[in-house]
Amino acid sequence: MNRIELPLVAQRLQLRDFKLSDLEAVHAYASSPYVVEHQAWGPNTLEQTREFVEQCVAETAHPQRRSFNLAVVLNNGRLAGGCMAALSADGHEAEIGYSFEPSYWGKGYATEAVTILVTELFARTSIQRIFATCGPLNAASIRLLRRTGFVLEGCLRAHKVVRGQVRDSLIWSRLRDDASMAPGLHALAGALEQKP
Ligand SMILES: CC(C)(COP(=O)(O)OP(=O)(O)OC[C@H]1O[C@@H](n2cnc3c(N)ncnc32)[C@H](O)[C@@H]1OP(=O)(O)O)[C@@H](O)C(=O)NCCC(=O)NCCS
Repeated sequence: MNRIELPLVAQRLQLRDFKLSDLEAVHAYASSPYVVEHQAWGPNTLEQTREFVEQCVAETAHPQRRSFNLAVVLNNGRLAGGCMAALSADGHEAEIGYSFEPSYWGKGYATEAVTILVTELFARTSIQRIFATCGPLNAASIRLLRRTGFVLEGCLRAHKVVRGQVRDSLIWSRLRDDASMAPGLHALAGALEQKP
C-alpha cells in the first residue's frame, strides 16, 4: 500500500496532477514576490515556471513515483495554488509544502488542501511521519501548520539561503500516532510551542 489515488477530493476543492495548460495559472503565483518572500526559489520567470510545470507533468509518468506536486483546483475550476508531498525512498516519511495565489489567501483553502493531503497520505501509504519546514517569520504558514495539527519540533539553524540571506527554518511534524494522542498531550505540545 503506497499509492495515493488522484484526484484528492475535498469539500470546496480538489488536488490533481498539473497539466501543461496550467502554466498561466501557476505563473500567477510563482511570479509573485509576496508568494516567494519566505521561500528559497522565485519569483519565477515564465521559463522557470514552464520548466516546473513540465517537471510536474513528467513525474506523473514515473513508475515508482514518490514526488507529488499537485494543483489545488477550486470547485469553480480556478487553480488557486499548489501543494506538494515528497515521500522518502524508504517510505517512512514525507515532506509537504504549499503555495497559493494571494487572492485566495485567508479563505481556508490551504487548510482544506493540507488536511486532505495529510489524511490521504496516512490512509493510503504506510508513512509514519509528515514534516514541513517554514521560515520563522512566515506567520501565515505557522498558523496553517498549527491549525492542521502539526507540532513544532525545533529550529534548523542557517538552513536556507533566501535571496542571499542565510535563514533559519522551523520544522514541524505530524505523526501517524498523533491521532491517538491523548487530548492532554496535545495541550502539552501546544503549551511547549508557546515557550520562547
Ligand atoms: C502559507 C499560505 C498557503 C497560507 O494561506 P492562508 O490563506 O493563510 O491559509 P488558509 O487558506 O487556510 O486560510 C486561513 C485563514 O483564513 C481564515 N478562514 C476563512 N475562512 C476559513 C475556512 N472556511 N476555514 C479555515 N480558515 C478560514 C482563517 O481564519 C485563517 O485566517 P488567519 O490565518 O488570519 O487566522 C499562504 O500564505 C501562501 O501561499 N504563502 C506563500 C507561500 C508560502 O509561504 N508557502 C509556505 C512556504 S513554507
